[in-house]
Amino acid sequence: MSKPEKFFDDKGLRLDGRRIDEIRPMKIEVGVLSRADGSCYLEWGNNKVLAGVFGPRELHPRRMQRPDTAIVRYRYNMAAFSVEDRIRPGPNRRSTEISKVSREAFEPVVLTHLYPSAVIDVFTEVLQADAGTRTAAINAATIALADAGIPMKGLVSACAVGKVDGKLVLDLGKDEDNYGDADLPVAMTQDGDVTLIQMDGNLTQDEFKEAMELVKVGCKQILEIQREALKGKFDQFDTEEIEEETVAEAPKSEVEIDETVEVETEVVETEEEEVVETEEKVEEEVVADDENDEEPDENTDDEDVEEGETNE
Ligand code: CDP
Repeated sequence: MSKPEKFFDDKGLRLDGRRIDEIRPMKIEVGVLSRADGSCYLEWGNNKVLAGVFGPRELHPRRMQRPDTAIVRYRYNMAAFSVEDRIRPGPNRRSTEISKVSREAFEPVVLTHLYPSAVIDVFTEVLQADAGTRTAAINAATIALADAGIPMKGLVSACAVGKVDGKLVLDLGKDEDNYGDADLPVAMTQDGDVTLIQMDGNLTQDEFKEAMELVKVGCKQILEIQREALKGKFDQFDTEEIEEETVAEAPKSEVEIDETVEVETEVVETEEEEVVETEEKVEEEVVADDENDEEPDENTDDEDVEEGETNE
């Protein structure tokens, strides 16, 4: 791919038709991996990312355990087929660096002290890359952590801001990332505390301030999408429960009613037997209690005497 002749059209719109403060469309699916404790599939423009969370679980080898806290491990990985040129499988300098800074992006929010000696593993896999994959992975990882029920102070949202043709733009596309003047990926908590910031290229101090304001807007939009995705997941649970209850209470067909009557009759018989048995047991217990009642009185007297003796 070569550098585009211009990054903005006559109306000031970007190569993909977005305004300068507009993020790419994002789609989030929660709970997509049955073997993970929490998971998320996220599409953001042409990025496709999968995140899986495992834990909290006991950390092995045990010498790595921290007795006062859990540790969070984070893996960012690009699938070999995720980019135009095949990527050699396995960790490389770039993925190691991204894994490190992304783990640190979650450090201030995950309540690790609740799980001493444990580990929380976060795996992110980039299936299709199109600029902004580290921020996409962080957005997916937050949802997977929440899906796993890991207690956090809040969600983390991430987005990049950059400079193209002298203009600040939100959420860089592939060409803007490759041929732009600056790229600034940022992650922040829902309270606006920055937990990750990196910068490629140069910005003046004023541009930097403006860029931070712009990226805050982007992160807020992403936070809303994340919240909606989680709400969708938990609303769905509520609906499923309500549906189950409704099915249980719904009137049955005639055939079913007959079967139900038989079953209910059996249940009633069982209950009657149980009631009789229970009554017998209660009577026995009452008799036993009456017998036992005498002993504590004696003991109490003894204790009183002993206490009295001691007091004297
Ligand atoms: O993806 P992100 O913007 O977080 O990181 P980057 O290092 O700025 O990479 C920008 C984009 O370059 C990636 O999203 C990929 O689309 C592409 N890339 C690639 O084609 N081959 C690589 N080995 C690394 C990145």
